[in-house]
Amino acid sequence: VTAKPEHGGRILSIAQQLRLQPEELIDFSASINPFGPPEAVLDAVTAALGRVGHYPDSDAGVLVDGIAALHGCRADNVCVGNGSTELIYLVPRIFPGKRALLVGPTFAEYGHALSLAGWQTEYLHLKPEEGFALEAHLVRRQLARGCDLLFLCNPGNPTGRLYPPHEVAELLSHARSAGTPVVVDEAFMDFCEEASVKEMVLSHGGALILRSMTKFYSFPGLRLGYALAEPSLTARLSAQRPPWSVNSLAQAAGIAALKDREFSRRSRELIAAERDFLGSRLAALPGLKVYPGAANYLLLELPDGLTAARLQEHLLRECLLIRDCAGFPGLTPRFLRVAVRTRRENERLLAALAGLLP
Ligand SMILES: Cc1ncc(COP(=O)(O)O)c(C=O)c1O
Repeated sequence: VTAKPEHGGRILSIAQQLRLQPEELIDFSASINPFGPPEAVLDAVTAALGRVGHYPDSDAGVLVDGIAALHGCRADNVCVGNGSTELIYLVPRIFPGKRALLVGPTFAEYGHALSLAGWQTEYLHLKPEEGFALEAHLVRRQLARGCDLLFLCNPGNPTGRLYPPHEVAELLSHARSAGTPVVVDEAFMDFCEEASVKEMVLSHGGALILRSMTKFYSFPGLRLGYALAEPSLTARLSAQRPPWSVNSLAQAAGIAALKDREFSRRSRELIAAERDFLGSRLAALPGLKVYPGAANYLLLELPDGLTAARLQEHLLRECLLIRDCAGFPGLTPRFLRVAVRTRRENERLLAALAGLLP
């Protein structure tokens, strides 16, 4: 079994160690939409507090109907989870086989969940010098060597790279003919919804899409995610899921979030504008390489002689948290990831970095 993965977003424990209030820190280490949570979500959670004396609806019927309506699918195409993380841990149990292929560098929980369930994992690391482009011929070659499950994260985390839907679709049909099921983690796809392969997956099967509601709607503390797939797969996932794993506050938050179309529209617009601003200003800093990202974070590479760990230490003194990406297999200690935040916060990060880069 692999070691428990580390993550960004440790603002609460870091604040406690530094004897600060969390509000005194700015968290660029977790990729959470800074414009949320929507007011309607907070109101709904407050209202739902009065009902915590009852068990939640274990099937989360109203929430599932809302998710199905949003994506134009049926309720039996949806399985909710306690964060998409719960579903990541259930996925290795619903597929037969023992060899999984992970397209990296990528989110560490896939490998850990697979190893806990007794799978062997192999990585195919996309190359920084190719901008982490999806090298489909290499994936196909690995599949041909025998592989029972493929994991792909789109947009990639931590790379930010968006694989265009036609490339993913091609890979999915190839995997389908090879008999290899695919998990496409679209945890950050709400920021670029038009690139989702949900329609293809729902009409052709053979794959499962994971979605998170904690990033786009900014409630990671409540835990909510879901899978979209053909009914036979969602039924297998549901069968593995412990009862009541999505609590009533998370369900209320999810139902309210899905209704707030104006929040979604504005978030996409604001994040795209801030990402352009932050990306272009970062790229102007000496020696810093910025990888283009499609979601609400950017992967950066420091010049020779500087490590993300050192930079992290310096930035922490200015109450700024970033994600050191040295621990991601496939990346070097010079990689870091920063979230796209509000203009004022992004400017603070830029000013601090300008003072630290040679
Ligand atoms: C790519 C990716 N997938 C899934 C998750 C899990 O998100 P959650 O469990 O909050 O839905 C994360 C969290 O960082 C992630 O980065």
